Amino acid sequence: MKNYSKNFINRTYRRSLQIPNPKIAPSLLAADFSRFGEEVKRMVDAGADMLHFDVMDGEFVPNFAISPPFIAAVRQITEVPFDVHIMVTHPLRYINALAEAGADFITFHIESRDEPKEVISAIKARNIKPGLAFSPKTPTAAVTPYLSDIDLILPMSVEPGFGGQAFQPSTFEKIAELHQITTKLEQPLDISIDGGVTTEIAPRAIHQGATILVAGTAIFRSQQPETVIEKLRTGTA
Ligand code: DX5
Ligand code: ZN
Repeated sequence: MKNYSKNFINRTYRRSLQIPNPKIAPSLLAADFSRFGEEVKRMVDAGADMLHFDVMDGEFVPNFAISPPFIAAVRQITEVPFDVHIMVTHPLRYINALAEAGADFITFHIESRDEPKEVISAIKARNIKPGLAFSPKTPTAAVTPYLSDIDLILPMSVEPGFGGQAFQPSTFEKIAELHQITTKLEQPLDISIDGGVTTEIAPRAIHQGATILVAGTAIFRSQQPETVIEKLRTGTA
């Protein structure tokens, strides 16, 4: 019998189950901010399917990150889809500025203060895809009433606010639970994961139904981001 590698078996098994490759979204929070434009180009050249931007208000989370004018500046240098994750108390205040900046997805938190249906409508009114994120301590039941109104669901795998944290394994159950629910919906829905995503985490997350993998540290800290992106995409550790 041939000695097949674990990666080969993994890939072949996934193909037989017809699990498509996920989209890979490098999180620019992990970029070297003193060379931001070059970092963007490095990711686009490495094969990023989308770029992930973290917007923070210093209140919803104890940190500040990327602001709409930054995102607008990046729009001048690439046409790659922008996946904007807003960790803010009042998401409604950000929608117009992010629409002008060129966002393709805007993902806000269920734990924020504005009424979720209102935020979803405001995002859709600007022809942008709405996404809903929820923090590790929030149960999946809190987001299920909104799943048929959104394009992306994001069960956070770390406490929002900072890069470089470890992936919380309880997220795997949430992905599987969401996959079960969303396959019964009329409209397809992306399941994204964000926080501590590595090439070791990717195979199981993809198998359970994740369709977008956001990764900051794992991609940016590598000298060969194209290799990490390809491994994440194909689910090979
Ligand atoms: C955390 C952010 C993430 C972060 C992920 O609140 O939402 O996008 O950049 O970074 P890593 O991949 O380093 O955990
Ligand atoms: Zn994020």
